[in-house]
This record gives sequence, structure tokens and C-alpha cells, in this order.
Amino acid sequence: MIPSLIITIDGPAGTGKSSVAHRLAQRLGLEFLDTGAMYRAVALVAIEQQLSPDGGRGLGAAIEREPPRFDWTTSPPRLMIGARDVSDRIRDADVTAIVSRVAACPEVRRHMVALQRAAAMEHPRLVTEGRDQGSVVFPDAALRIYLDADPIVRAQRRGEQLKACGRPAGEAEILQGILSRDRSDSDRSEGPLRVPIGAERVDTSELDLEGVVDCLESLARNRIGQRLTHSAVATDRP
Ligand code: DC
Repeated sequence: MIPSLIITIDGPAGTGKSSVAHRLAQRLGLEFLDTGAMYRAVALVAIEQQLSPDGGRGLGAAIEREPPRFDWTTSPPRLMIGARDVSDRIRDADVTAIVSRVAACPEVRRHMVALQRAAAMEHPRLVTEGRDQGSVVFPDAALRIYLDADPIVRAQRRGEQLKACGRPAGEAEILQGILSRDRSDSDRSEGPLRVPIGAERVDTSELDLEGVVDCLESLARNRIGQRLTHSAVATDRP
């Protein structure tokens, strides 16, 4: 049996978590789970099925009927709803505008946490990123990381990302969106954005993507290097 090894990366929007987590996973020979994409998929379902993004029975039932899932044969894994690849669609502005509301619904979070733990059973050597991965979903993860950055830097980065995908937006508007999502992600009652107990906190304001990945890779090799070589038997599951 392959021993499980989970690294969690949490932090606010625009810290580069997804790209960093994917690159780190590649360097360490682990798989990668983007949990923000799962909440975005639920927001897309709410839009398409005209369900309230604030929860209620409709949204929970829709998730049960057709839960978001990843195609693990691609790297990074593509996000699917049924047979449809929604990986690009979930980055659109209409999804981004309501995803915090969807992520604040306790019922949605319960479904997502269960799906994330199930994914970790199937893919036990994992870098997983989100807001609650080290604090709620995998509190016993081998390494818990919290990425942070100045909000203005985060808005600039998000602006560059959107431009690169052909969806340019004004920086002031992006900053407002980021600050408002920070607020709702931190203030919600279930799974709020928190620095997990025992987490390594890394400020990425002054670093580029490769710099952050270098920093996290040496952190991982120093802290859990032996386990990265498959030699130890351990479990990270709660
Ligand atoms: O990282 P992102 O921007 O793709 O996340 C989308 C939204 O989902 C954001 O509002 C935070 C929320 N989220 C969450 O509440 N818990 C997670 N584990 C991941 C994301």
C-alpha cells in the first residue's frame, strides 16, 4: 500500500495558490487537488439551473445528482460536471461573482469536504489547495502551508492571469472583488479562511511563481523529506 502524504496550501485569493500547488506537486511527484475549482463548479450549477447561490435544498440535491469530479488522467486534472469539461468556464466573471456565497453554504461545504476526503483516499499522495484544507479537511496533513500576499499585489496577479486567458478586467474592480471575497471567506461560520494550527506562513508579495515554489519545495524537503521518498508509513487522514 502506498503511504499517504498530504500537503495543504491555504490562503486568500490571488496568492497564486493553484499554480504554486500544481508546480510543487510536479516537483515532489505528488498529485494536485484544486478545491476552489470544486466550489466554482457548484456556482456554475447554480447559474445554469437557476438555483439560489445561497444554498437550500435545490443546490444540495443538484450536487448529489451530479457531483463535480476531476479527470485525474490529465495534469492538472480537468474539472468535469458529468461528461462536460468545465475547467475554463468556471473562471468566468459570472461564476467568480457568486462563488463566495456558494462556498458559505454549510450544506455545500459538507458535500465538498466529503468529496475532497474521498479524493484523498483514491489519490493519497497529494498537494491540496483551498481555504480550509489544513484547518478543517486535513488537519493532520504532513505539512500545512498558508500563503499570503499584499492585496494590491494579489489584484495585479489576478489581472495578469485574466489578461492571459483573454478576459481582461480593471485592477480597481479586481481589487474590490478580492477584498470582498476575503471578507466573506473569513467571516463565514463554516470552514472560514484561517491560518491552520502549526502551518508554515509564507508571504509571497516579493516573490515570483518560481520563487514561491522554490521556497515551498525546500520547506517540504527539510520538513518531510523522508516521507517524500515513500519510505515511511503514515496516514494524514483525519
Ligand atoms: O481559489 P478560488 O478563487 O478558485 O476559490 C473560489 C472560491 O471558493 C473562493 O470564494 C473561496 C472558496 N473556497 C473555499 O471556500 N474553500 C476552499 N477549500 C476553496 C475555495
